[in-house]
Amino acid sequence: MNAPRSPAFFPDEDQLFRLLRQLDRVPEASQRATAEALGLSLGKLNALLHSAQAAGLIRITDRDSTDRRQRFAYALTATGAAEKARLTDHFLAGKLAEYLALHAELTGHAAGLVTLKQRTEVMQDNHSPIPELYVSHESALKLKHEAGALPSWDLTPRQVCDLELLMNGGFYPLKGFNTEADYNGVVENMRLADGTLWPMPINLDVSDAFAEKVAPGQDIALRDAEGVILAIMSITDKWIPNKAREAEMVFGADDLAHPAVNYLHNQAGKVYLGGPITGIQQPVHYDFKARRDTPNELRAFFRKMGWAKVVAFQTRNPLHRAHQELTFRAAREAQANLLIHPVVGMTKPGDVDHFTRVRCYEAVIDKYPQSTTTMSLLNLAMRMAGPREAVWHGLIRRNHGVTHFIVGRDHAGPGKNSAGKDFYGPYDAQELFTKYEAEIGVKMVDFKHMVYVQEKAQYYPANEVPEGCTVLDISGTELRRRLREGLDIPEWFSFPEVVTQLRKTSPARDKQGFTVFFTGLSGSGKSTIANALMVKLMEMGGRPVTLLDGDVVRKHLSSELGFSKEHRDINIRRIGYVASEITKNGGIAICAPIAPYTATRRAVREMIEQFGAFIETHVATSVEECERRDRKGLYKLAREGKIKEFTGISDPYEAPTNAELVIDTEGTDVDACAHQVILKLESMGLIKA
Ligand code: PPS
Repeated sequence: MNAPRSPAFFPDEDQLFRLLRQLDRVPEASQRATAEALGLSLGKLNALLHSAQAAGLIRITDRDSTDRRQRFAYALTATGAAEKARLTDHFLAGKLAEYLALHAELTGHAAGLVTLKQRTEVMQDNHSPIPELYVSHESALKLKHEAGALPSWDLTPRQVCDLELLMNGGFYPLKGFNTEADYNGVVENMRLADGTLWPMPINLDVSDAFAEKVAPGQDIALRDAEGVILAIMSITDKWIPNKAREAEMVFGADDLAHPAVNYLHNQAGKVYLGGPITGIQQPVHYDFKARRDTPNELRAFFRKMGWAKVVAFQTRNPLHRAHQELTFRAAREAQANLLIHPVVGMTKPGDVDHFTRVRCYEAVIDKYPQSTTTMSLLNLAMRMAGPREAVWHGLIRRNHGVTHFIVGRDHAGPGKNSAGKDFYGPYDAQELFTKYEAEIGVKMVDFKHMVYVQEKAQYYPANEVPEGCTVLDISGTELRRRLREGLDIPEWFSFPEVVTQLRKTSPARDKQGFTVFFTGLSGSGKSTIANALMVKLMEMGGRPVTLLDGDVVRKHLSSELGFSKEHRDINIRRIGYVASEITKNGGIAICAPIAPYTATRRAVREMIEQFGAFIETHVATSVEECERRDRKGLYKLAREGKIKEFTGISDPYEAPTNAELVIDTEGTDVDACAHQVILKLESMGLIKA
């Protein structure tokens, strides 16, 4: 996709440039004021405006005004904004040439300034600015106002990441979300409809309900989660994609074990919309503002620093010593400066969160020479597409002004497929990158897996280890185990500062939060055991303990609910939510509802296990025994039909089949029952003996 050329009916590029500039700067001006500013008659201006509209450079809309000269409102389209940027370069080149000629005429010798053309030739590709899709501040204010009336789509977190990189030039040459023709080309052969290399579909996926309300030819407002309008999209295409085909072609298999395939089928909307974007404002970030750079900000930094060659290192993991060695070697090999360019948008589910990672990077960046290395955060939503992703990363890095890119072992790998095999070969990404290196415009610096050689006390690529030496390595899984169990992480592997940060977010098991979830019939003894357990845990100290007892929850959290299946589910999910928050924040939650349904208990388990352990404990007292005890007199009432839907009598109880613990209360006293739980917690490493 090349920069648009002026349509044939604009013989006077200068006039078009002035018009676009004027409309971008003062979009609210009346026709008369615009005509005066441009030195045109109203008739001429009108003709020009309509030609610009026909060429898709501006949008003309009606506006409520009694003054007929203020009847219309004007705004640049995405194409118009790109055309204005191109004409600006052209205009500046002309002015500079004029100045040089005048200078030579007056002084008899050249000004010593290089022309813009010469300068752009001298100025490296990676130093000159790259087109963005934003309009001027004034136009943005006006468009934002107008966009309030448009149908609006609330962007998903992934779409916000995509939009940010579309608008700031990170996804150049894309000018918006893929059209159907571009999408088909990208899926089938990694090329946009015009043949440009682009390996990743960038789609605005929407729900059926929203898709029904909009049609090609219409503009929509794109909003972030808080409702802030970030851009306007002019819809040109609307279609239902073949997602199975997309999965096969882009990710190599239609297998839900691949996180992006799972996203495609289970999270992405059914319908895709395509069309150009007019950028209004950047998505707002409250975190690490100073560490985020747009492509043009990085290019300006490289220009200012005179960094002709820059090698980028992409990562979604904390940096350990192996990474540092790899980046040092890459910079030496390419004789380039170094950009540590971690992804902070969306990475693989289960990765270390970006807050922790950035704190780790900040600790490590001090260990690099300041004059040769910089670090910048990239708000990219990764797809974990291995080889295709590597090519995509290369293009994105080229747009950010880098000249070299490190591709290591298993670049952007998604892990194992549903048959337990790797989705891609460890060096497939390097192979594909090599094939397209010239078109990407960035040189690959390839690396084998780095390992520590004990006798040499240093890191080597796995294929360069001196013979007979001892190789040490700690895999990601092993690192997570050591963190979980509070085991030593050796200094040869990582930096103490990084380990400290990781331990803060992944404390040892005996410092993590967890939930003990009792389930069983009414009167089975859940509450009594739960109370005893709470006291024992409080006696041990160390973590706050909260008891969410069935009766207590129904009084405070679920007072409006009854005992229908629907209401019981809501009640249990509420308990699950509160327990998951407690677990996340390092506390102990003890829950003691009846929770009669397997599916609801599983949903609660999933909520909690993202943050800590879930110990499902079945208090397996039989219904006969519960009825015999009938401590609250409820069974009698249930038998008499005075209480409806009573669990075990007139409503089902689905006994757990895979609970962590089953407690038989018949013939065992409460203290011993609670002690069984304590022993279980000890065996799981959740409390120290
Ligand atoms: S559920 O199914 O998990 O939502 O039930 P739960 O919130 O734990 O129930 C709390 C107490 O409500 C009393 N109760 C009933 N239980 C079962 N079925 C019916 N229809 C019913 N009506 C009232 C009962 O005393 C439960 O307390 P526990 O502590 O379990 O005995």
